[in-house]
Amino acid sequence: MILSLGPLRLKNPYLLAPMEAVSDTGFRELCGSLGASLTFTEMVRGASFVRENKATLDLVDTYETAAPVGVQFLTKGPEELQRTIEKFFELRGRPGFEHFRNVKAFDLNFGCPSPENIRIGAGPALIKRTAKMDAIFRTLAQVTKRHDETIAVGVKLRLGMNRLEKERKVAYRLAPAANEHLDFFTMHAKHAAQRGREEADWSALHELRDLVTTRLIGNGGALDAESARKMLRETKVDGVMVARGAIRNPWIFRALSGQGAELPTRDEILDAQSAYLATAKLYGTRQKYLDFHEENFERMLQERR
Ligand SMILES: Cc1cc2nc3c(=O)[nH]c(=O)nc-3n(C[C@H](O)[C@H](O)[C@H](O)COP(=O)(O)O)c2cc1C
Repeated sequence: MILSLGPLRLKNPYLLAPMEAVSDTGFRELCGSLGASLTFTEMVRGASFVRENKATLDLVDTYETAAPVGVQFLTKGPEELQRTIEKFFELRGRPGFEHFRNVKAFDLNFGCPSPENIRIGAGPALIKRTAKMDAIFRTLAQVTKRHDETIAVGVKLRLGMNRLEKERKVAYRLAPAANEHLDFFTMHAKHAAQRGREEADWSALHELRDLVTTRLIGNGGALDAESARKMLRETKVDGVMVARGAIRNPWIFRALSGQGAELPTRDEILDAQSAYLATAKLYGTRQKYLDFHEENFERMLQERR
């Protein structure tokens, strides 16, 4: 089943989520080769990107080819976002930044509830600010499409900052602006005060389905192939974004794309481990990612004993 996000045609409706300290080029290449139809870099802070902070620019490590890749930015407002997107295209024309040409989507993060994001007025603190969000969505679309009409634009958010905002359905008020400006609208079906173990509220996705006419991507609690298919079927979202389920088992995408078994063999894990390492070494991926994935591959191997 093909899914179009504006100008971008995806081979199936199952996407890999942006994950800080996890979603590097090697991991995205692995998930893409197993069937993820679109992947995202981890969150890239717009303010540091504009300053050309080296560590921040390195987060746009878009070297892989197995699946299209998007960059996720964090921004606190339309002016900063405009500078961020302009900077992206300025860099894309410079020698040494050829890998920026692989970027097929821009996403904005309004979900990460870290105290730092809240302090600078970014992330989920913005969800209730309907007029400002409208200006952000418009800026994202206009500035991007002026430079490159083939790049899809969207946002990822939560149901509000806290339970009260969720009950007031503040995020639902963003649907008209999303429908007008964006190619995709990804909802992590929790409010920002909810933590990992708490369950996502899929009924909110179902309610949003009636309001969102651009592509609606559901996220939260699609932890294995069965639950990802269930989210798609029951909430009628257009696509499903998988985060923890892909760390636990990247082969979830093989099952979801109908290309094979959900559980890998030990040999498949070993092959994936060496392919990951080769990609990471080739592109100078930082050690913290290698450490994380080494440990994660070891865990998968232990579980397949
Ligand atoms: C290790 C980790 C890092 C994350 N980093 C980001 C991030 O950079 N940007 C973002 O929008 N969400 C981030 N998230 C949230 C996920 O993208 C996703 O919304 C959340 O985990 C719910 O999906 P799941 O139930 O499939 O795990 C992160 C989640 C995890 C577990």
